[in-house]
Amino acid sequence: MLRQLVTGERVRIGNPIAIARLGLLRELTDQLLSGEASRDDIPLAVAQIRASATPARPSSDTAVAHAVAAAPPVTRRVPVLPEAGEDTVTTSSVGYARSVVARHVPPTPAYRWPLLERATGTETWVKHENHTPTGAFKVRGGLNFVERLRVSGVSPAGLVSATRGNHGQSIAYAGARGGLPVTIVVPEGNSPDKNAAMEGFGAELVVHGSDFQAATEHAADLAAERGLLQVPSFHPWLVEGVATYAMELHDRVRDLDVVYVPVGMGSGICANIVVRDFLGLRTEVVGVTAVGAPAYARSFERGEVVTTESVDTLVDGVATRTPDPLAVAMIRRGASRIVEVSDEQSLEALALLYRTTHNLPEPAGAIALAGLLADRDRVAGTKVAVVMTGGNCDFPLLRQALHDI
Ligand SMILES: Cc1ncc(COP(=O)(O)O)c(C=O)c1O
Repeated sequence: MLRQLVTGERVRIGNPIAIARLGLLRELTDQLLSGEASRDDIPLAVAQIRASATPARPSSDTAVAHAVAAAPPVTRRVPVLPEAGEDTVTTSSVGYARSVVARHVPPTPAYRWPLLERATGTETWVKHENHTPTGAFKVRGGLNFVERLRVSGVSPAGLVSATRGNHGQSIAYAGARGGLPVTIVVPEGNSPDKNAAMEGFGAELVVHGSDFQAATEHAADLAAERGLLQVPSFHPWLVEGVATYAMELHDRVRDLDVVYVPVGMGSGICANIVVRDFLGLRTEVVGVTAVGAPAYARSFERGEVVTTESVDTLVDGVATRTPDPLAVAMIRRGASRIVEVSDEQSLEALALLYRTTHNLPEPAGAIALAGLLADRDRVAGTKVAVVMTGGNCDFPLLRQALHDI
């Protein structure tokens, strides 16, 4: 009987919310049958289906889809993000995120590179997050965020977010897959390469304001005007998605002593902390940021949010002035330390990664290695991982970096 309802062979429920839930249940059944989801995913998926409150999009011409299409139109309001906190991220929610992300991002490789190990003096594993459909780990968070919206029943007219680059590509990519139009606001003078990439993934690009703060405020205005949902730069649903790479890393490599991870808004480092804790490992999680963008390093030291007036670094992925309070609390509890490196150290690490792996990172994708090299004496002889978080190196910056080195 349930199976017939789910497949649409039998429809006895007229309430649109119930019909929408049936649609979600049908998707879950399909995923279980195809192996995309496992038995472990069922409790979370059912809880999310129960929590859903608005009709899903019709996805086929079954009787269920006809009934959804015939349901009265939903009035659009400015959408509100459901409450989410640190305890939103659980082993089963990350397990569910894994099945969501895996539909678009095959597990990325983690390799040892002998020439790199000679330079670091450690057993060094590089987690290649430069090999995702957007060239950076961020896409994992975006995909999970859009899926979480869908199962929560929040159906905005579209998404809007302010960004300098990889976050915007992630939301553009994920929004397109989830059928949500995406508007990305960037400040004036943002990298033309990154702007082009976001448009390439289907986003409408709006250039506004002289810095990231002004772009963020404009994104909030657009959200209110157009009924869009503003995607924050840090959120537990982003952390859940990003945590999927940390799971892959520990699946691949047992007993890592240290993982070095860049800190921008904190989704990467928080994801590594929660996964380490879920798995009950002793692995140290060490954050790396730029000397010219010390907001997270100072916040970590003081145990409270410390903002800075400006940033001065070419490592754009970590150029943060205003940390997120939840991220600061999680990092404070779970990270061993935050290493600060100069831009010269990041560029040297970029060149070293190119020479020893022939992968080209962007500066933020190389900064974790710069942190390891700065810590060389401390971790000599241990087993470490560095996350190459992205490979979207702007061409003018690459030309300048190669010229300067
Ligand atoms: C390539 C790359 N690495 C690292 C970061 C920092 O990540 P998070 O904001 O999760 O701390 C970013 C942020 O945009 C990035 O683009």
